[in-house]
Amino acid sequence: MEKTFIMIKPDGVERRLMGEIISRIEKKGFKITRAKLVKVSKELAEEHYIEHREKPFFGELIDYILEGEVMAMEVEGDFSIEIMRLMIGHRDPKVALPGTIRGDFAHSLTKNIIHGSDSIESAERELKLWFD
Ligand code: PPS
Repeated sequence: MEKTFIMIKPDGVERRLMGEIISRIEKKGFKITRAKLVKVSKELAEEHYIEHREKPFFGELIDYILEGEVMAMEVEGDFSIEIMRLMIGHRDPKVALPGTIRGDFAHSLTKNIIHGSDSIESAERELKLWFD
């Protein structure tokens, strides 16, 4: 069965949205097979977002991830990578649809509550990085 990496970002934890998000994942029928609440190191944050290191927003993104604790999760289920991305919603708050996690709870391009792997390769890399 497919596994994806999901991270509830510092604003999601700080705003007490963990329960709401976990509830949506479980109600969808997916299983949370591993989870941990962690204060991320700069090294781990930079490695996680390494493909974006040349982007103008990289520094801002890393500072944000280091702001507080994050909830790292392994989520298992058929087509979980693609379906979780749909449930998360678009990263632009002006485009994220109501009913998605970002559409319902986020209004910032940077502080957008949650991350989900975007491909099988990313999911494998991210799960290994965070849990092995
Ligand atoms: S890109 O440029 O299309 O490759 O970027 P994208 O894949 O959409 O986003 C990569 C991650 O960076 C976050 N992001 C931002 N953070 C801070 N400021 C700005 N302007 C910004 N734009 C994008 C975006 O939420 C992605 O993070 P994750 O955790 O993967 O959702």
